[in-house]
Parts: sequence; structure tokens; C-alpha cells
Amino acid sequence: MSLKKTAKFGKPQETDYATKEAFNSLRTNLKFCGDDIRVVALTSCTENEGKSTTALNLSFSFTEDGKKVLLIDADLRKSVFIGANKLRADGQIMGLSHYLSGQCMMEDVIYQTDVKGLDLVVAGPTAPNPTELLGGERFENLIRKARETYDIVLIDSPPLGMVIDTVVMAHCCDGAIIVIESDMISYRYALEVKKQLEFADCRILGTVLNKVDLGGGKYYKGYYKKGKYGAYK
Ligand SMILES: Nc1ncnc2c1ncn2[C@@H]1O[C@H](COP(=O)(O)OP(=O)(O)OP(=O)(O)O)[C@@H](O)[C@H]1O
Ligand SMILES: [Mg+2]
Repeated sequence: MSLKKTAKFGKPQETDYATKEAFNSLRTNLKFCGDDIRVVALTSCTENEGKSTTALNLSFSFTEDGKKVLLIDADLRKSVFIGANKLRADGQIMGLSHYLSGQCMMEDVIYQTDVKGLDLVVAGPTAPNPTELLGGERFENLIRKARETYDIVLIDSPPLGMVIDTVVMAHCCDGAIIVIESDMISYRYALEVKKQLEFADCRILGTVLNKVDLGGGKYYKGYYKKGKYGAYK
């Protein structure tokens, strides 16, 4: 796939050693899931648990390992930002919602960023029918094409405990990671999301327990930990 567009993206602030190591081990665990795991959705029970932050840092970790990564922001209910990073490009930024609704070509929404090895698709303007768009043929085509070009495709997905968008796109993914905010999500709520993924026949690769309180305050900023139930099996 030849990309027409480039954009300045920029890495976030330098992460500390422990955070970096945690993402490297997340990356390693993901690799141990098998080399057939190429397209991975990140979801959660509710908003704000850290999906975008995890997706972004995991992307960086893969690029540092020399991999070619496509990060897709598939939360069509939100804005064109992914995590705290704003994409800066000349002209109008075209996003996933433009492509899925037929307003542009696939190549128009894939941006080559200034992080070596990382290409990005932003969500684009909020769409009135996100579930329908994500369940359509154009999304399937994007993922099929991305498989030919990238070593790993990470899909930053909407929270499955709130909307079913992740279920409709699950058949395009090789598996999902559930990001869980520590001390915020009940066991029952997490179980519901797990069941929904299983119902969609989506392999659960593991969980990331995020915003873990290490005793110092509400949580130790930037600390990430693998989930209790085994993570990447
Ligand atoms: N481990 C962490 N330590 C401290 N702050 C964090 C951590 N993970 C995420 N955050 C912060 O929590 C907020 C929500 O994170 P993020 O946007 O990644 O969540 P999200 O699940 O993608 O949210 P949404 O459902 O709204 O898309 C952000 O302000 C982010 O900086
Ligand atoms: Mg997000």
C-alpha cells in the first residue's frame, strides 16, 4: 500500500523505566500468543480506563522492536485525537469515519507518522451510525489490506461495556486485550465484557490492569501491570 500522507505525531513525554519495561513485557507476551496474532483490539468495560494510552505505548514498543505498526482509532463516537497526541498535518485530516462512509479512499486515511514504523488512522468526525460502519465491508477491506502491509495492527476500540462496536468488528481481529482500571471495575462487569467477546468468537489474549495504586497515592502515574487472570495465554 503506498501512502500519500504524512503527519507529525510526536512521541509523548519520555516514559519511566518501569513503564517502558511493562510495555515491553506486554509486547513480548503478545508475541508468545503466536505469530498468527496480527490484528489486536483493545477494549474495556467503561470509558477512561486507559485503552488509548495502552494502545499508543504498545505501538511505540513494537516500533522500537523494529516492527511496522498500524494503530487505528476505531472509536467513532469520539474526536480525531488519540490519547493526548494530536495529529498535525497539512490540509484536512481524513479519518476512519470518512473512509467507512465512502467519502475517501483507504490510502487517504493512513498517515505515516514521524515515529519510525508507526502509521496511524484517526477516528475522524463523530459518525451517527458507528456500529453499522464498523460492521461493514469497508472496515473488513481495511484490515485485510493492513495485514499485507503491517507486522501488527492495534485497534483502539470503544468500551465494550457501553457499546457493542467491538463485537461487530471482532471477526476481523485475531484477538482482544481488555484494559481494566484498577479498583474501578467490578468482577461481574469485567466478566460481562469477557462473555461478550466470547460470544463474538473473539479470542481474549489477556488483560491489562491499569492505574494500579502502589500505595503512594490514588495510583502511581505511568505504572502498568498485567492482569490477574494470567494475561497472555
Ligand atoms: N497508567 C496510567 N497512569 C496514569 N494515568 C493514566 C494511566 N493510563 C491512562 N491514564 C490517563 O487516564 C486518562 C484516560 O486514558 P485514555 O484516554 O488512555 O483512556 P481510554 O480508555 O482510551 O478512554 P476513552 O474510553 O475515553 O477513549 C488519560 O488522561 C490518561 O492520561
Ligand atoms: Mg480512548
